[in-house]
Amino acid sequence: MNIPKQFHDFYQQYWKDRWQTLLPALLQPAPKIVRLNPFIDQATKDKWKGSLTPFVSPWGLKNAFLWGEHLKQIPRDEHSGLLLFYVSDSVSYLISQVLPVDKGQQFLDMCASPGGKTLGLIERLSVDQFLLSNEPNYSRRQRLVRNLRQYLPPQLREKIQVCGQSGGLFAKTHPQFFSGILIDAPCSGERHLLRSRFHLSRWTPRYSQNLQFKQYELLSGAWASLKPGGYLLYSVCSVSPGEGDGVVQKLVAKKGQLERCQLNLAFSEPTEWGYYFLPDRAPGGPFYVSLLRKTER
Ligand SMILES: C[S@@+](CC[C@H](N)C(=O)[O-])C[C@H]1O[C@@H](n2cnc3c(N)ncnc32)[C@H](O)[C@@H]1O
Repeated sequence: MNIPKQFHDFYQQYWKDRWQTLLPALLQPAPKIVRLNPFIDQATKDKWKGSLTPFVSPWGLKNAFLWGEHLKQIPRDEHSGLLLFYVSDSVSYLISQVLPVDKGQQFLDMCASPGGKTLGLIERLSVDQFLLSNEPNYSRRQRLVRNLRQYLPPQLREKIQVCGQSGGLFAKTHPQFFSGILIDAPCSGERHLLRSRFHLSRWTPRYSQNLQFKQYELLSGAWASLKPGGYLLYSVCSVSPGEGDGVVQKLVAKKGQLERCQLNLAFSEPTEWGYYFLPDRAPGGPFYVSLLRKTER
């Protein structure tokens, strides 16, 4: 793959020597894991566990196994009809386990399709907690709804409401409403970008800058719809610094009233406002993650 000079220069300017190991890691196929569906019965889970290779998770993720070609077709549980496993990046699954949900009732997954983080979050909610799973793009929302139907038993689907508005609008529709919000924002996603000759050949620094405007709009919408004391988890699968600390810094400067929360997780590399999980060192990624708490004043 011919990588345009301006792409190289843009990333090397920030990552310096690290870019020499980061770029080759981004060019490798993403390592995938499969998560056994926790909502199928134990006997079926035990039967499948025998034929899967455990993913020895540095973060203690349960029910995670290594993906292999033989798992391309995802089988269904013969009793419930639910799909048996969900394929994802290990860090992507980890992110859904990081948002604190021990207090509060209403949670929001602002950029939800295809639903990996919604599925990870719903596993952790108790009977009196609810999740609004939002995806504005019509066809992606259909995919989200299909995934929820295929992975969750009907009684659990009742805890999730799916909606389709632009994330920034939550400031108006749900002011100070949610106890926790996950924003897995649209981003440069260099791992995918580097696989697309078409997109790479048209890439300019503007591409990342335009995304930063959108990411900030989502972050500030989330901030306004978060209750004081609530948590906001912002993530992107990008190594463009402006899409990580850059947008969080802007939020902090404009809104204040936020504190950065510490995450003590293996392979996390701290930045000023969050952490990177980078594929030249971690068994997945890239991801930038920032967990913020809205202070009570
Ligand atoms: C990185 S993907 C989310 C992946 C998902 N969280 C998962 O784990 O399966 C980002 C999503 O944000 C959606 N999106 C784009 N613009 C948005 C907006 N203005 N508000 C909310 N979501 C948006 C995209 O359609 C896309 O589905």
